[in-house]
Amino acid sequence: MPILFSQELLISVVVVLLVPLYLYLRASCRSKNPSVLPTNWPILHMFPSLVANIHNIHDYGTLVLAGSGHNFRAHGPPGTGMRFFITCDPRNVRHIFTTNYTNFPKGAEFAAIFDIMGGSLFTIDGELCLRQRAKVKGVLSNPRLVARIAACCRDKVKNILLPLFTHMASTGTPFDMQEMMSRFMFDLAATSLFGVNPGLLSPDMPPMDAAVAMDIVMEVGFLRHVMPASCWKLMKQLNIGPERKLRMAHRVLRGFVVEMMKRRKINTCHVGNDEEQDGVDFVSSFLHDPDYADDDLFLAMMIGYMVAARDTIGTTLT
Ligand SMILES: *[C@@H]1O[C@H](CO)[C@@H](O)[C@H](O)[C@H]1NC(C)=O
Repeated sequence: MPILFSQELLISVVVVLLVPLYLYLRASCRSKNPSVLPTNWPILHMFPSLVANIHNIHDYGTLVLAGSGHNFRAHGPPGTGMRFFITCDPRNVRHIFTTNYTNFPKGAEFAAIFDIMGGSLFTIDGELCLRQRAKVKGVLSNPRLVARIAACCRDKVKNILLPLFTHMASTGTPFDMQEMMSRFMFDLAATSLFGVNPGLLSPDMPPMDAAVAMDIVMEVGFLRHVMPASCWKLMKQLNIGPERKLRMAHRVLRGFVVEMMKRRKINTCHVGNDEEQDGVDFVSSFLHDPDYADDDLFLAMMIGYMVAARDTIGTTLT
């Protein structure tokens, strides 16, 4: 699993790059001919070009980056707060995510927008961030954990994905590649976090409630980005619209984490003792750490890491 572990960045990658792009990817219209550089209109800036290409945002982004020397700044209309710096230059990516990441705090506004993951690396800054980051790096480089994920990955590709692709190809059946990758990464992410395989990629293709709830978290995160804060905060208080959906998604995710922890406990009992299990999954390193004893913090972290591990790679694999 070189992609998953060669960098401890999977979390931060989501933060800057994928959040605003995530929703766009899910819209599925056909593209016309995107221009290479967005027109910079007065007042509205590049907003019209963005809207016109929203259904095809990844391809459009690739063209824009190619046309602009790998770095690009975009604005929305005044008042929307839409400002993007888009880059595909590896030196910039390294600067932002690794060598000088302390120069790029996420800020209080971002933390409020993703309050559902509050306290996870996804939203924190400063000293707290340094500590959790160092801890997560250590956990993710544990050879036992890496070996387990590699085995799980190999097993799923060989025994499920490849036979499925073969079957689909030989019968000429169309299927949704993104859904398959989403199921695949969901299982891998949960296996690395909890040491439990939720089995979304099993042959009967079970419903994806928790995965859908994660999509809702990201969708509502996007909406909160583009509307005034007072607006979504009011909706949250009244529990209406997207805020209501988010609350339900949160409940689903809490249920999912509780279920995974229950199954993990049963597995641990079978294995024998807790020590046997130590380091084989991500949570074992957090369970006995007083810094992470708070239930809400634990839940927020698990949601954050599930999103980080699944969405980045799931999207790229497709
Ligand atoms: C980036 O980090 C390096 C080493 O950590 C440091 O020497 C350099 O001054 C930093 N650059 C900026 C712009 O902060």
